Amino acid sequence: MIFMKGVILAGGLGTRLRPLTEVTNKHLLPVFDQPMIVHPLNTLKQIGITDICIVTGGEYMADFMRFLGSGAKFGVRLTYKIQDGPLGIAHALLQAEDFFGKEKVVAILGDNIFEKVEVPKEAFEDEYAYVFLKKVSHPERFGVAVFDDKGNIVEIEEKPKIPKSNFVVTGLYIYPNDVFDFIKTLKPSQRGELEITDVNNWYLKQGRLKAIKLEGYWSDAGTFSSWLKANILRASLVNPQILNHVNLKELIEDLF
Ligand code: DAU
Repeated sequence: MIFMKGVILAGGLGTRLRPLTEVTNKHLLPVFDQPMIVHPLNTLKQIGITDICIVTGGEYMADFMRFLGSGAKFGVRLTYKIQDGPLGIAHALLQAEDFFGKEKVVAILGDNIFEKVEVPKEAFEDEYAYVFLKKVSHPERFGVAVFDDKGNIVEIEEKPKIPKSNFVVTGLYIYPNDVFDFIKTLKPSQRGELEITDVNNWYLKQGRLKAIKLEGYWSDAGTFSSWLKANILRASLVNPQILNHVNLKELIEDLF
């Protein structure tokens, strides 16, 4: 049995969900039956991780602690780390360096809702980085995978105007422990953030990145429409009837 650690990245300002995120942190807003952060927490549990670090800004840290506590009521053990400002996903990950020590790193974005993830056993032990891809109809808002003729991933483009495929990089990442040394060499992007896509492309260039295509639903919940989608997907898991509706008006009539 391998005991893995995982981190939930729950910093950032959630500007695309204003004014809701003027009331509380994005990851404490509900996604159907639970505060958003419970869903990535359950995804980590589903892949066998119960030693979990939460990274978030200082503003709402007390609210996370009040709700999640030690983690015991969720069957996990929690550690908390502060990210001083929304300096990017890779910067948030760096805050968990001490937590991981010398171990392999599993990171999940706090606004990503997965139905189920299959992680190959060797991913917890080998020297490769792993990303998990999902086919979507509007890839331009995400990190988009570029493939060669043989179907091998050759690059990841962050929010391209003209996406070269419909496969996007979801917010679950597995890294060898040298990820922290690499993040320390990164320079902020045009939007002033340390980009996780730069990290993934670094592993890709060295032939150390594996990309796995996901089954099951997936959505982030960082915009109003994706948040609504995440709510519906989650609701459909609790009540499968919901997905039988082809007619939205009819669906709304049926929801009470
Ligand atoms: O959802 C998957 C996408 O997430 C990927 O396809 C993209 O490659 C990746 O860049 C990211 O894109 P977003 O633009 O959606 O990321 P966003 O800024 O919304 O941040 C996503 C989560 O990352 C957020 O819920 C919390 C965490 N985060 C983000 C920032 C900027 C932090 O913990 N700290 C931060 O400073």
